[in-house]
Order: sequence, then structure tokens, then C-alpha cells
Amino acid sequence: MHKTVQDIVTMKKEKRKISVITSYDYTLASLCDRAGIDVLLVGDSAGMVMMGYENTIPVTMDQMCMFTEAVSRARKNSLLVSDLPFMSYQASIEDAINNSGRLIKAGADAVKLEGGSIMAETISAIVDVGIPVMGHIGLQPQTIMLSEGYKVQGKTKETAMKLIEDAKELENAGVFSIALEMISHEVAQIISETVNIPTIGIGSGVDCDGQVLVVQDLLGMYDNIKPKFAKRYMNLSEDIVKTLEDYKKDVESCVFPAKENWFSMNEEELKKLREQIGS
Ligand code: KIV
Repeated sequence: MHKTVQDIVTMKKEKRKISVITSYDYTLASLCDRAGIDVLLVGDSAGMVMMGYENTIPVTMDQMCMFTEAVSRARKNSLLVSDLPFMSYQASIEDAINNSGRLIKAGADAVKLEGGSIMAETISAIVDVGIPVMGHIGLQPQTIMLSEGYKVQGKTKETAMKLIEDAKELENAGVFSIALEMISHEVAQIISETVNIPTIGIGSGVDCDGQVLVVQDLLGMYDNIKPKFAKRYMNLSEDIVKTLEDYKKDVESCVFPAKENWFSMNEEELKKLREQIGS
């Protein structure tokens, strides 16, 4: 049995930190699940790291469902949360419920959407039909790209107060946890102490109840953007490129494939074949 939303909420009560990692494909999701990561997040960051878009805005529901299906086939133990992409929930509550339902049918246990108090009514409506929701405040890539770009949130008293109010309203609306993206660590700490549900930080300091990273950032596989908060645990892209160069050389010099990599015919059969074709 995999982890449930309730298990994640309980982790905060028991003061156990929550590990979250993004996942979009079967192979990497299997490894994340095997490593015991608590939550696999099919983030709309897939638009950048899987699809090569400049930002998350072009991501579609069909793409999110495909990534969710792949990850759901891999996970055995983790909770699976999927992002609602841009414009799949903002236009109407009906859209929000229908599209949340699509992600659940694709294999998600919960959905995540961006926005503060303005999203409270939508969140309540999704929760009311029985779908758990994770909130997401602070830097909101789906809309920030249309205005000011990537900037730390909550650096003044006014913006900090708004974030704290947003977090409380999301909790009242029924979210089971909230992602805090690029919020000054002092404000993230206050929010984490204020709400009873887990906060999951990305670039928001150590006092959040859990942390999330994009898996390609952590593995050092995505070089287009290198945010300060995205700790690279390894430089996999260098190893991969070096390995692929080795492969290319081996192909060019006929070192690959070697005998152990190919299949042979029965000698008698080969002899008969040669006789027949006269070679
Ligand atoms: O899309 C994503 O990967 C996210 C996390 C980074 C929070 O929303």
C-alpha cells in the first residue's frame, strides 16, 4: 500500500520531514520510489525539463495525464501528486473539477494548483468532490512569467502578511499541504508554524515541513537554469555526455557491438544457407 495524504499530514504532527521530488517518467519514478521518497510530484515543470519549453505556460492536460500515467505505473510506496497546468482550473470551477478528475483517473492521489486566497473557492469545490489538493504560493511560475519573472517572494512586511493570509485561507479551504516556492526563509518559517498542514519548501529555507526539488536539477541533468536553491547532488549530464561519446567512438571503431552483444545462427543452418545463396 502506498503512502496516503493522511500519512503526509501525520508526518508534520510527528515532526518528521517530508521528502518530495518531481517525476515525469516510469524509469526515474521507479528509482525515486525505490529510494523511499515520500511524495512524487508530477510537476508542470515537465514543460521545461521534459518538453523543452521556456516556461510552464504551454503545458497541456493531455501531457500532464500522460506523465501521471507513466509515474503511476512506477510508484509502489510514495504518494503521487500531479499539477493542474496553466488554464486548466482558472477559468471555471467546472474546469477545475473536471481536470482534477482527469489527473486522478490517470493515477494521481491528489492535485496541486497555484494561487493564494483567490483560489480558495476553487479548492473547496475540488476538495468537496473528494479530491485532495496541495496549494502552491510564493513564486507561481504559471503567472509570474507573465509579469515580473523569478524573484524571491515575501521580502517586505506587506507581501509577507499577504503570504501568511493566503496560507491560512488555503488551509481553511481544505488543502492537505502547501508548496512554498522562493519565499524568504523567515516568512516560510512563520507560515509553517502558523498552519497545521505540512508546508513543502522549494527555495524557502529549512524550517518548512518538507522539501521539493526538480529531479533533473538534483541529478545535475538540466543546465538551462541553475537556481541557487536547486542543490545539485551530482553532475549526471557530464557523465551521460562522456558515456555517449564513448559509445559513438566504439561504434565508429567497431568495438561495439562485440560477440557478447549479438546472436548467432546454428552453424549447420548457416552452412546450408550459404550453399543455397552461393556465398
Ligand atoms: O512544477 C513543479 O515542479 C513544481 C515544484 C517545483 C513545486 O511546482
